[in-house]
Amino acid sequence: MQDGRQNLIVALDLANGEKARALVQQLGENVVFYKVGKELFTTEGPSFVRELVANGKKVFLDLKFHDIPNTVAAAIRSAASLRVSLLTVHAAGGSKMLKAAAEAAAQSESKPTVLAVTVLTSLDTEDLREIGVAGEVEDQVTRLAALALQTGCGGIVASAQEAVHLRQTFGRSFTLVTPGIRPAGGAVDDQARVVTPENAMRAGANYLVVGRPITSASDPVEMAKMIVKQIERAS
Ligand code: C5P
Repeated sequence: MQDGRQNLIVALDLANGEKARALVQQLGENVVFYKVGKELFTTEGPSFVRELVANGKKVFLDLKFHDIPNTVAAAIRSAASLRVSLLTVHAAGGSKMLKAAAEAAAQSESKPTVLAVTVLTSLDTEDLREIGVAGEVEDQVTRLAALALQTGCGGIVASAQEAVHLRQTFGRSFTLVTPGIRPAGGAVDDQARVVTPENAMRAGANYLVVGRPITSASDPVEMAKMIVKQIERAS
């Protein structure tokens, strides 16, 4: 059986390095991949990412870059120099930006996978209207995913609901990272649509991003182990 730990990314959505360090230490060998997002990166900076990598962990740097192509390419080179494995850009930045991002990653020594974020899950059809986007959310997700994959990005961040359609449309040769995961029977927090680890893997995800079910658990180690088991059940 495949080692389910390789598919689990724990989102370190914690306010400071002290709390994040304590959790990483507590989780120990049970978790090998961490997501560092805007909150933690803004307080702790690149040194925290370096520290995780130096401790043998893989890092998903989720800063969702969205800027002119030259600036995004430079940011990607900086992220690659931290030896992160995955990073994010907004597909809405357009094909020139996406291409610059993919090229910068490919030309770096560590070659991180560039993941594109399509439509934020906080946006509905009405929100898209406000920013001048006609059509349904699903159409915009498909359009932006196509753009990202055509321009050389290595993967997509998408909900498990979107995963099935994305796999059907674009095949298996891209990395699919899926948040909104809740173990069966747990709290859903503010996630509108949640999927169990097993079902998300079956829907075609390569990696599951899990935050609060582990970070807020009374026993984070037990919860991580349980999620890994549920991942392994799908394989
Ligand atoms: O705590 P929870 O498991 O809901 O955390 C999920 C993580 O995935 C958070 O870091 C959140 O920002 C991220 N995410 C998400 N939905 C998306 C994209 C990212 O929940 N569509």
